Amino acid sequence: APQGRLSGRKVVITAGPTHEPVDPVRFVGNRSSGKQGYAIAAACRNEGADVTLISGPVSLPAPSGCDVIHVQTAREMMAATEQALPADVFIACAAVADYRPAVETPHKVKKERGGLTAIDLIENPDILATISQLDVGRPQLVVGFAAETDDVLGHAETKRARKKCDWIVANDVSPGTPSMGGDKNEVTIITGDDDESLPMMAKDMLGAHLARRIADKLDQG
Ligand code: PMT
Repeated sequence: APQGRLSGRKVVITAGPTHEPVDPVRFVGNRSSGKQGYAIAAACRNEGADVTLISGPVSLPAPSGCDVIHVQTAREMMAATEQALPADVFIACAAVADYRPAVETPHKVKKERGGLTAIDLIENPDILATISQLDVGRPQLVVGFAAETDDVLGHAETKRARKKCDWIVANDVSPGTPSMGGDKNEVTIITGDDDESLPMMAKDMLGAHLARRIADKLDQG
């Protein structure tokens, strides 16, 4: 392992979308590429951390030196996250589907047999809220992301309070921004005492910046 400011620390990161099956060939999903979460994983590894990256379906190479666990659904991501603990830091960068189809049809839905004109949805488990509120084995630092299209900071702060994570990275994902799927991101890191609005930057740069801030925080104890 490389020596760095996160040597001896365990970091668990979720990344990418989830795919929630409708039938054997169809799913409900979103446009997350995994690039931001993978960049954070690589940066934490470069700082010496022991990294487990829990990845939804994306087409990115595994960042070198990280343990990558591949999942499809929110429920699989939840289970893999619980299995990866204990950790010093948990970072929830995945765009987890809040809802999934209530029924996964075991055979391909056929138009000739009536098809499908509506999908009933039921709520998925909330990974970030669950890990933030563990009574036993809660990571020392839990970092969420908030993908918003309006009142970005307001909604992010509300989410931080509701899910009870320590920090939340407020992410403007409005149409026209590169955040979701692109190579750059523009965020505000909300920590409660030392919020930081960053300029638009490459996702790799943001990953390195976050890894440094996390190391600062852990150094303070
Ligand atoms: O993957 P990229 O193309 O690089 O794009 C990066 C990104 C835009 C996806 C990323 O930077 C980002 O903002 N990730 C969070 C996306 C999201 O789903 O945000 P949210 O506001 O819906 O969720 C809030 C937080 O709760 C997130 O930390 C999310 O991981 C977590 N969550 C949400 C629902 C759920 N069931 N479980 C969760 O853990």
